Amino acid sequence: MKRRTLLGALAAAAGVAVPFAGGWRGSTSTGLLLPSRRPLPPPFAVPLPIPPVLRPVRTDADGEHYEVVQRVARAEILPGVATEIWGYNGSFPGPTIVSRSGRPIVVRHRNELPVPTVAHLHGGRTPAASDGYPTDLLLPAGGGGDHAAHMPGMFDEHAVIRTGEREYRYPMRQPAGTLWYHDHRMDFTGPSVWRGLAGFHLVTDAAEDEVPLPRGGRDLPLMLVDRSFGPDGELLYPSLDPALVRPGVRDGFGAGVLGDVILVNGAPWPVAEVDGARYRLRLLNASNACRYRLVLDPPPPGGGGFVQVGADGGLLERPVRHDAVELAPAQRFDVVVDFGRYRTGQEVTVLNAFGAGGTARVMRFRVVRAAADDTAVPATLPGEPGLTAGLAAGRGVPARTMRFRHDVIGGRPGWTVNGVPFAPDAVHARVGRGAVEVWRLTSDFHHPVHLHGATFRVLARSNSGPGAYDAGWRDTLDLRPAEQATIVARFGEEPGRYVMHCHNLEHEDMAMMGNVVVT
Ligand code: C2O
Ligand code: CU
Ligand code: CU
Repeated sequence: MKRRTLLGALAAAAGVAVPFAGGWRGSTSTGLLLPSRRPLPPPFAVPLPIPPVLRPVRTDADGEHYEVVQRVARAEILPGVATEIWGYNGSFPGPTIVSRSGRPIVVRHRNELPVPTVAHLHGGRTPAASDGYPTDLLLPAGGGGDHAAHMPGMFDEHAVIRTGEREYRYPMRQPAGTLWYHDHRMDFTGPSVWRGLAGFHLVTDAAEDEVPLPRGGRDLPLMLVDRSFGPDGELLYPSLDPALVRPGVRDGFGAGVLGDVILVNGAPWPVAEVDGARYRLRLLNASNACRYRLVLDPPPPGGGGFVQVGADGGLLERPVRHDAVELAPAQRFDVVVDFGRYRTGQEVTVLNAFGAGGTARVMRFRVVRAAADDTAVPATLPGEPGLTAGLAAGRGVPARTMRFRHDVIGGRPGWTVNGVPFAPDAVHARVGRGAVEVWRLTSDFHHPVHLHGATFRVLARSNSGPGAYDAGWRDTLDLRPAEQATIVARFGEEPGRYVMHCHNLEHEDMAMMGNVVVT
């Protein structure tokens, strides 16, 4: 395979150059807009859905057992129109799993879709065998041909392939936090997630119980995605092969697929009626490539409408007030918004300052009644304290550099890490169990860099300290064009091979992924 850096190097040199035909939406997201081909629904007309919480089917010595069936279903996403989706238990988002720190769970997935799948718990501290390695395929229960034959050059002798059903075992040895699960099949994560294979997984713990944060009906998981719809309400996606047997997207979309309709929990620009009280909003950007900058319109008197209490890896050590929140794909921000700072009857719209037209708005809250509120955001929170670079081997000197950039792979445009396209046997790093390492990450365009099997803190961005949105433990970094970030990562205790990758799902599918082997 011939690998040259051509467009990547040119683009990096030019700053925000746009090397592909069609034009990427330049400064805020790296990707190309796929316009819908039907009139879009009016905003703020559909009530905000909350995904159902999945009940365990039984509990035994191995923990709580859950069952999920991945299947084709029809959903009313646009009012009055049926849209075919791929859903966990036939719903999009999938059901929410709520688990308790320290209590293991077992999730049995059954694949009734026409293609292989891989379930990954994003943010889970999971042994490699259950982490959803991209070639550990779950083949369709109904038979779906020999998909391994359709993975040219990607035969993986270590892959664990099952047919129909398999169990994923999650020890849940991790603090309270907002996780999510989604498909992770090699080369096809983008189209599979776009079709609906994503859901929340929330972890609770005793330390969080002690904090008087909003809960119950005032604790809202909010999954943000952008999608585009065809003439009959079908989800559009620019796959070369709609059957998802051969990988790839049409020219230009390799930079990322951007939609023109924002869905929150699967509903277009929904509206939620709220009490005049504090709410915990668990924001998840589950988009393929879209970045968001969320603001409240109007802001509450005095500003600081978003009080961030958590990030990817759980609660912060202390809250951070924001007027806006920026989320790259796969990132989570837990924020508290106090609707008691608004008048009863007031409408509060969540706008996306990175969007344009329809993508410039996200959802609306309508403050419908005054209400008692005994919640609070204390000045200190039980988040795990940060790591300092001094704790790392080499005392802050980066142990490794990972360069995320555009590349040419076998004569086709693609994306690589350190010039090496993903292959199951291409190892980007070997680290010791529980190791603490400082890494330097560099980019040409936007690359939301995600590490499996590790959590990290941001130490620096280019020549300054961490950014306004870097607080807390993260598993995904919003790496911006021509940026250099320094992180200190703590790797898990479980040996095995894990992936790290760009969470722009088109970049991921086009080889921007590497192996980190924990030894
Ligand atoms: Cu959201 Cu490799 O993961
Ligand atoms: Cu992940
Ligand atoms: Cu990328």
